[in-house]
Amino acid sequence: METVLVIGSTGNIGVAAIIGALRSQRTVLAIVRNQASAEKLYQHAGTREGITTVEADITSVSGIEGVVAQVKAGKLPAFQHVYSAAGGKYDMTPLHEISNEELRESLNVNFETNFFAYRATIPYLLKKNNPNSTWTLCTGAQGDGGMRAGPAMTQGTLFSMANVACRDNEQTNIRFNEVYLGLRVEVDESAEKTGFFKASHFAKNYQEILARKEIRSCRLTVLEKKDITDLKFKEKRLDLVMHKDN
Ligand SMILES: NC(=O)c1ccc[n+]([C@@H]2O[C@H](COP(=O)([O-])OP(=O)(O)OC[C@H]3O[C@@H](n4cnc5c(N)ncnc54)[C@H](OP(=O)(O)O)[C@@H]3O)[C@@H](O)[C@H]2O)c1
Repeated sequence: METVLVIGSTGNIGVAAIIGALRSQRTVLAIVRNQASAEKLYQHAGTREGITTVEADITSVSGIEGVVAQVKAGKLPAFQHVYSAAGGKYDMTPLHEISNEELRESLNVNFETNFFAYRATIPYLLKKNNPNSTWTLCTGAQGDGGMRAGPAMTQGTLFSMANVACRDNEQTNIRFNEVYLGLRVEVDESAEKTGFFKASHFAKNYQEILARKEIRSCRLTVLEKKDITDLKFKEKRLDLVMHKDN
């Protein structure tokens, strides 16, 4: 059975990815920051079955590398897929008032976590060379909307990271895709109170991505409820011609 490694596993999107993975008959390896987070995850996912949790600090340079080392050593399940949805830092500080400390924390929590995840897992997946491997990154429309400076700038860095990853993995065994989300998705317990979209429904989006091999090096855009299941995807590429002024 295949396994999905989930980063940001205890969050709204991470829980959706876990539900999607389990529904698609895959098991899950979820990185959590502590046991309390693991319990929160089981509660929101509605089960403990099929989920292995491992504690690591995803904000540190070596946290996710340590998880991959344990996988290589056979202490944790081998994985073929990655879903990365770390972040969630959503400060309102105006752009010109962001302190150095806040800037670095936003970049660390919202961007570096996902980058560390990519850097730690891609070499492993390439080496395994499983033709079914996928790597999925969740980004947010806030990066274009620009309503909140910290979240917007860090989403922008993720857009660029996704551009590179789409290029780099075009010809590899790994189907890299970016899910560009413009809806508010919350774990079911919360969505039932706020009226936003349920993680258990958004999970269908990941089920589709896992199932549809033609979706590769793409941005999937989710701006309306129907986009969750009726996928809108476009290859992420911009072929620039280096014009000369002659
Ligand atoms: N939810 C949405 O509707 C939505 C829409 C567009 C884009 N996105 C993007 O998707 C990503 C995740 O969003 P989300 O709503 O799922 O966020 P979330 O519910 O706040 O979850 C964030 C995840 O990151 C972890 N995390 C955050 N700070 C951490 C820290 N300092 N150390 C260790 N772990 C930390 C959390 O762990 P703990 O549970 O232990 O705190 C959790 O697993 C973000 O990049 C966001 O911009 C989400």
